[in-house]
Amino acid sequence: MGKILVTGGAGFIGSHTCVELLDAGYEIVILDNFSNSKPESLNRIKKITGKDFKFYEADLLDLDKVNAVFDENPDIEAVIHFAGLKAVGESVRMPVEYYHNNITGTLMLIKAMREHNAKKIVFSSSATVYGLDNEVPYVETMPTHTSTNPYGYTKVMIEQILNDVYVSDNDWSVALLRYFNPIGAHKSGLIGEDPNGIPNNLFPYIAQVAVGKLPALGVFGNDYDTPDGTGVRDYIHVVDLAKGHLCAVKYVMENKGVEAINLGTGKGSSVLDVLHAFEKACGKELPYVIKPRRAGDIAWSYAKPDKAKKLLNWEAQYGIDEMCADGWNFAKNNPNGL
Ligand code: WQD
Repeated sequence: MGKILVTGGAGFIGSHTCVELLDAGYEIVILDNFSNSKPESLNRIKKITGKDFKFYEADLLDLDKVNAVFDENPDIEAVIHFAGLKAVGESVRMPVEYYHNNITGTLMLIKAMREHNAKKIVFSSSATVYGLDNEVPYVETMPTHTSTNPYGYTKVMIEQILNDVYVSDNDWSVALLRYFNPIGAHKSGLIGEDPNGIPNNLFPYIAQVAVGKLPALGVFGNDYDTPDGTGVRDYIHVVDLAKGHLCAVKYVMENKGVEAINLGTGKGSSVLDVLHAFEKACGKELPYVIKPRRAGDIAWSYAKPDKAKKLLNWEAQYGIDEMCADGWNFAKNNPNGL
């Protein structure tokens, strides 16, 4: 069994996936530029697993460095590609940086993989590719060529690029994993979501209210056509998501072709559902205020998760209560992040 290169392996989902890969006996190489992660994350992966791995601090835009990683590790058999900028609002303000970093970075990675005959890739895509025109529950066969922001369009475009790479060379094997809303943390409380600055996403924002770093949650609108008027999303435990990547690595090792696969629970939870579940986890009432809707938000988003079960024999195990209990455990043990 060859090595797995994990780009962005020091990040939130990357680090949880590296833990599962090491625990499953894989040998891994991590490449990260720490643009949205910290070196401490690598120490925590080692502490949880008791295993070591090679690490390269590098940017995918530096093709010479990316080639060097493959030159020094000729037994890299597959790549899990997490590295990329991912803040929706920031991408609207900085489209050029998002397209350059995410698209060009991926093209450099593909060039290096082709050069070294490593043609198996698991790509970190997102439910955001379903855009505004599809009805929930989202199914992989739905059209995915519209988005509401440059970040979402980088995912749409990279999926297209990987499809075209396969058409040009059928020796490739590609899994496009469409994440819904990953939240929670590893049960050890040693790794978890650790965003820089004020969190854009709901869950880390609630966690910072719970530890007292932020005064109250702003609920972006309560007049949506949903049970309690607040936005509904398919929240998935980050460890479930990480295990889904293990199944996808096995799949690309044994198959050729391109498969888009939803990684979600198939269940929706509202903003207030998550807030109340977190209150139960932390044992205190969390203040919130209703604010105007956020531009680009939709009322509903949740997965039809059948294909992952059929193709990967994978399905989410954890519910919202465990996601909040594990997320609270990480937040209270790391009130200032890693
Ligand atoms: C969830 C719900 C908000 C913050 C985005 C990206 C997606 C992925 C996950 C990267 C919505 C509400 C949020 C807050 C709130 N990112 N909310 N107050 O927008 O579903 O998905 O992040 O891969 O690609 O699109 O996630 O957590 O930002 O919002 O009321 O302070 O919480 O309106 O209903 P989203 P989110």
